[in-house]
Amino acid sequence: MARALGATLGQGWLFGRPGPGAASGARPGTLRLPAVQPADPRGELVSPFACLPARVPVREAPKALLIELSKQLERQALRLGETCVVASTFQEARHVTPATRLRYRDLVERVGFVAALGEDLPVEPMPGLRGADLAAGDPVRGEWDVVVLSPHFSAALLARDLGDDGPDMARRFAFALTYERDTVVRAARALLSRVAPNTLRRASTEDGEVPAVPAGVVSLLTGRSAGDPGEALLHRALAAVGTGVTIVDLRLPDQPLVYVNPAFERLAGQPAAELLGRNCRFLQDPDTDPAAVGRMRAAIAAGAECREVLLNRRADGSTWWNECTLTPVTDETGAVVQYIGIQTDVTDQVETERALLTERDRVRRYAARIAELDPRVGVPLSLAPPADGPQASTDSPGARRA
Ligand SMILES: Cc1cc2nc3c(=O)[nH]c(=O)nc-3n(C[C@H](O)[C@H](O)[C@H](O)COP(=O)(O)O)c2cc1C
Repeated sequence: MARALGATLGQGWLFGRPGPGAASGARPGTLRLPAVQPADPRGELVSPFACLPARVPVREAPKALLIELSKQLERQALRLGETCVVASTFQEARHVTPATRLRYRDLVERVGFVAALGEDLPVEPMPGLRGADLAAGDPVRGEWDVVVLSPHFSAALLARDLGDDGPDMARRFAFALTYERDTVVRAARALLSRVAPNTLRRASTEDGEVPAVPAGVVSLLTGRSAGDPGEALLHRALAAVGTGVTIVDLRLPDQPLVYVNPAFERLAGQPAAELLGRNCRFLQDPDTDPAAVGRMRAAIAAGAECREVLLNRRADGSTWWNECTLTPVTDETGAVVQYIGIQTDVTDQVETERALLTERDRVRRYAARIAELDPRVGVPLSLAPPADGPQASTDSPGARRA
């Protein structure tokens, strides 16, 4: 099998007795690791287009052709699935059209990591899609790049705007389509270094600033439009409360979180950036009661309220008991479009109750044994079958005598 796949070195009896080892006295060779991307002499971030080696021919094409080439690369990425990384640039946020969003939603669902960069693009342009705003003067603002990288496939469309006026679709770009792994890796690194690390949301909560509640959610919760003076108050209130507050959007695939307050970040043990875009089920543990989860699922499917206490697990592996209350939010037509979750850590309470139950069982067992040994000593009235006389109670003179 290994030979059929091209193996030329083998070890084991199947290949016969071992041959002589390495010639004695031979000088050991040196291990050559792949070269690290040379830093830009000015210490600036390299743009993907600048990663193209001089020998690669650069051609000219209108935007209309780049769209088709980009879609072709996106289709490749969809086929590669989980192992694939996609990073694309959009010049400006307005170029992320509804059609593009639909394509990227599919990518986010099927591909391991997807990033979109462009002027004014937020940290998370849609659930699961990592975004990055490009700084003024960043050469990537003038580029159209699509980079697809996976263990056995690499491709990059690297293009630079030639600055044409006139119809948008006719705007010309200098471009190259390359499958050279080294170039693709360098282009991917150039883009991802602008995306990661995602400190934006983390910094905002650590600095005591308030993470934004999505505009649509503000109007659903308050009946007011985003930017209304009440909005800032709502943000502050949600940031200040000690219980977790989450909002899930039912209109998005797999009902992802679209808002979490700082208390929920603490409960889940992860920053908002790592929570948003995911369904809350990732908090569950193999020991979480499937019946409780099933009741939640049924309530959400019916658009009903529900309250469950269930075991959840933090990123660091520690578990906590979550009293989770789910309340549906309807739009103007009465359709349930979102859910608000309130999460309270009731671990102390659950553990105290469990300890009490264990203790009660232990006392019952002892009481039963004592009763077996000395029939004059009763078990507590609540546990014992109806008995005549005061000896049925542990408080009875009989018990004290014993
Ligand atoms: C607003 C909201 C908040 C939720 N919060 C939690 C949570 O904190 N912990 C949890 O285990 N499940 C939570 N869930 C439930 C899961 O997201 C999911 O609905 C549940 O696991 C049942 O669906 P499933 O069978 O597809 O997993 C929440 C659901 C909603 C709608």
